[in-house]
Amino acid sequence: MGLVYRPNPVPYRPHRASWRQPLHLHLAPLWDALTRELAGLHGRVIDVGCGHKPYAPMMGRAVSEYVGVDREGPHATPDVVGDASQLPFPDGHFDAGVSFQVFEHVRDPLGCVRELARVVKPGGTVLFTVPGVWPAHEVPHDHWRYTRNGLEALLVDAGLVEGRLTALGGLWSALGQMANLELDKRWWARALIPWVNLGARALEPTAREELVLNWLVVARRP
Ligand SMILES: C[S@@+](CC[C@H](N)C(=O)[O-])C[C@H]1O[C@@H](n2cnc3c(N)ncnc32)[C@H](O)[C@@H]1O
Repeated sequence: MGLVYRPNPVPYRPHRASWRQPLHLHLAPLWDALTRELAGLHGRVIDVGCGHKPYAPMMGRAVSEYVGVDREGPHATPDVVGDASQLPFPDGHFDAGVSFQVFEHVRDPLGCVRELARVVKPGGTVLFTVPGVWPAHEVPHDHWRYTRNGLEALLVDAGLVEGRLTALGGLWSALGQMANLELDKRWWARALIPWVNLGARALEPTAREELVLNWLVVARRP
C-alpha cells in the first residue's frame, strides 16, 4: 500500500484531496478555485445537478438562499427535483446559477446553459465547471468533453457576456490524473500515486493548455 498513499473516502464525495490521494490533481484545483469564486456570490443561488451539494458550504455569507436541483435517485439530495433542461423556476428568479461537473452528462448542453441563464436575473452570474479530460463515467449518460473554443462558442450562443475561462489542471495534471486512476485499480501500484501527484505538480508550471482536466467558466447574463 505504500507509506503515504491514502484512499478516496468511501462512500465517495468530492473533497479537497491531498497529495497522497488518487484524485488530488483533479479535485484540489477545483476545490481551491471554487472556494475563491463561490465566496463572492450573493442573494439567491441555484445549483443545477447538485448531487450531494459538496460545494454548498463554500457559498459566501451574502448568499441568502441556496437551492440544489437534481434528478431523483440515490446519487443526489436535491432541495427541488428537476431537470437541467427545464428548471421549475420563473425567469430571473436567482442572482446566480451554478453547476459543477454536470454538462458532460446532458444531451443538450446549449439548451441547459440557456436554461441556467434564463433563471438568473439580468446582470447575474452564471458559473459552471466541466471536464476537459476524463474517462467515461455514469454511462450511458456521458455525452461531452469541453475545449476552450467550444466553451467560448457555448457562451456566445447562450447569449452570455464577459466570459472568463480558467483551465484547472493542464497537460501534466491531466496525464498524472489519468495515470493515477489506473494505478489506483492495482493494489501493488498504489504506492506510486503520491509521487505521480508531486511530479505532476512540479511540472505543471510548464504545462500547455492543449490538454485540460477541468474548466471553470464564469459569465454574466446581460
Ligand atoms: C458528476 S455528478 C456531479 C454532482 C455535483 N454537482 C458534484 O459536483 O458533486 C453529475 C450530477 O448531475 C446530475 N444530472 C445529470 N443530468 C442531469 C439533468 N439533466 N438534470 C439535472 N441533473 C442532472 C446527476 O444526477 C448528478 O448528480
